Amino acid sequence: MDYRVLLMESDRLMLERLSQVINDTPNFSLAARFQNVSDALGQGAVFNPNLILLDIEQPDGMGLIDQFKRAYPGAAILCMGEKWQAENASQSVKAGAKGYIIKPFTGMELQETVETFSRLGGDAGAETLVFFSPKGKSGKTTLIANLAMSLARKTREPVGIIDADLQFGDMAVFFNLAPQTTIVEAVRDVRFLSPASLRSYFMPVAPNVSVLCGTPTPNMMDKIAIDRLENLIAMSRSLFRYVLIDVPSGFNPTSIAAAEASSTTFMVTMINGAYEIDHTKRALDVFRDWKDVEERLKVIFTRVEPCDSRSKMELAQKLGYPVTEIIPNEYTIVSDAADKGKMATDIRPDSPLSRQVDRLADHIIGRRHRIRWAAV
Ligand SMILES: Nc1ncnc2c1ncn2[C@@H]1O[C@H](COP(=O)(O)OP(=O)(O)OP(=O)(O)O)[C@@H](O)[C@H]1O
Ligand SMILES: [Mg+2]
Repeated sequence: MDYRVLLMESDRLMLERLSQVINDTPNFSLAARFQNVSDALGQGAVFNPNLILLDIEQPDGMGLIDQFKRAYPGAAILCMGEKWQAENASQSVKAGAKGYIIKPFTGMELQETVETFSRLGGDAGAETLVFFSPKGKSGKTTLIANLAMSLARKTREPVGIIDADLQFGDMAVFFNLAPQTTIVEAVRDVRFLSPASLRSYFMPVAPNVSVLCGTPTPNMMDKIAIDRLENLIAMSRSLFRYVLIDVPSGFNPTSIAAAEASSTTFMVTMINGAYEIDHTKRALDVFRDWKDVEERLKVIFTRVEPCDSRSKMELAQKLGYPVTEIIPNEYTIVSDAADKGKMATDIRPDSPLSRQVDRLADHIIGRRHRIRWAAV
């Protein structure tokens, strides 16, 4: 698609600089440029722009979005600011803009930003799905990796995985990756990044699935500041339709911050002996402070035998809380896949494990479309 850009920028030098970038970017041409809002609103229409780059760092910047939307109903609006502020970015999208870009930008950043919003459609902002486990070895990393593939396959929309299991993240091992950049660099650089430049920290692993790998060594974990991690999560939301976050097991600053930032938190527990239900129950109590706990906190048990509706019902009864999904005991498939550097759902798409993961994906997709979750 060719973009005819109307550029509205109040700073003269910046206006010059951005005009140049736009004209030098393939498929983009500068149709008109203005330093003054009323000129842009009054005179720009004759140039028939289909993309408006709008400086919102001026008095009532957010209010301008609505005015430009009315003046140019056929054009997409991309807001510009000098630094990334999650608050500004989400407010501008709520007000009707397609996205937010940091200026000055390069031609590549402009292209990537536009490409991201056209892929995500008008409904920007991802579902943030956090996978929490009361204790370790819950099967959550396995679940996240397979679920990400399933979500991408079903929706053909971009899915991002963030490995924030800061001490023992093993998503890289799972996908057989030797990452150049990890969450450590992403968090270090986040203040200077825009969503488009953050994208290069994620490694593509399958069509529409990318991973931000975890810390290479456990002692790097103190390099991650929580407020920056929150910022990273917020920024990732504008890159993907679904962001799946693997957090360290138990309650710690990282898992709590990620859960607070989530649209849905999945509490994942592997059935191993007799104590898991009790652990899950106690962990659930911590989340009961959330007003919308039943909406936002979903329980999953893995390694459930037999994996049928009766087991699911019994687990829910023992727990006193709905169980959203159960994942069967499939150690052979899971470890065979891991040996091959593949996903269980890829090598055995017909297995009960794949079926349950796909069902969970359907729940998540359906929820997005406001279909109610099946009650247990
Ligand atoms: N559905 C399953 N059935 C049987 N075994 C499984 C299943 N899912 C995962 N496993 C096995 O259980 C172990 C732990 O799985 P995984 O690493 O996914 O859990 P985790 O909660 O991320 O663990 P950690 O606390 O180490 O991060 C692995 O050996 C994995 O192969
Ligand atoms: Mg793990």
